[in-house]
Amino acid sequence: MSVLRTKGLKKCYGKGENTVSALDGVDLNIEQGEFVAIVGTSGSGKSTLLHMLGGLDRPTSGTVEVEGKNIFEFDDEELTIFRRRKIGFIFQNYNLIPILNAYENIILPIELDGNKVDKRYVNSVISVLGIESKIRNYPNNLSGGQQQRVAIARALATRPAIILADEPTGNLDSKTSLDVLGLLKTTGQRFNQTIVMITHNEEIAQMADRTIRIEDGKIMNKAVKD
Ligand SMILES: Nc1ncnc2c1ncn2[C@@H]1O[C@H](COP(=O)(O)OP(=O)(O)O)[C@@H](O)[C@H]1O
Ligand SMILES: [Mg+2]
Repeated sequence: MSVLRTKGLKKCYGKGENTVSALDGVDLNIEQGEFVAIVGTSGSGKSTLLHMLGGLDRPTSGTVEVEGKNIFEFDDEELTIFRRRKIGFIFQNYNLIPILNAYENIILPIELDGNKVDKRYVNSVISVLGIESKIRNYPNNLSGGQQQRVAIARALATRPAIILADEPTGNLDSKTSLDVLGLLKTTGQRFNQTIVMITHNEEIAQMADRTIRIEDGKIMNKAVKD
């Protein structure tokens, strides 16, 4: 079943002479449960694509369908609720809330949606990520790698249907990166989650079912990994 589909997706930033075409007609189809890596040079449009897939920003033209529904027909409030329920984001710069400790950050999306925290599951995620001793720390008392793990735990905590990750292991050493990716992949398989991940790391891209290469806002290949 198709979970994410884009048609003719375009995104321009700026106006007039200063217009930058970040996405230039992207057609993409991602199946439920697929683990897709997006690769491409800096400035090729990877983050812009991820933001569109998750409804964080509206395209200039074209559509994004999630489970068959055009998400840009939602108004801003509906889009916020949609994101909270369906999507787990892992941002490059973590986006942790500074006045909340690590644990409060992790469970925030669950509480915002008015749901009860499944403590056993959340604790197992915290344990696999190796941050048990840090969960009472505030973000400014965590290293970059630790903040990244908290951000990953937060994305997994709600068991979203789709996880969108922008360089999720960019700040971790290579062994931890592979461990964290292993965890993402395992939980993805267990809960039939779809994972779309931007990475520069070839070894990590190899763990995906499929690699999508993007250049100048266009998809260059859609080959299934052999
Ligand atoms: N908010 C923005 N305003 C103006 N230009 C932007 C903005 N975000 C991205 N761009 C431009 O769009 C292009 C694609 O950027 P981005 O999607 O961040 O690429 P990548 O993540 O592959 O490095 C780049 O030329 C970048 O400078
Ligand atoms: Mg980027």
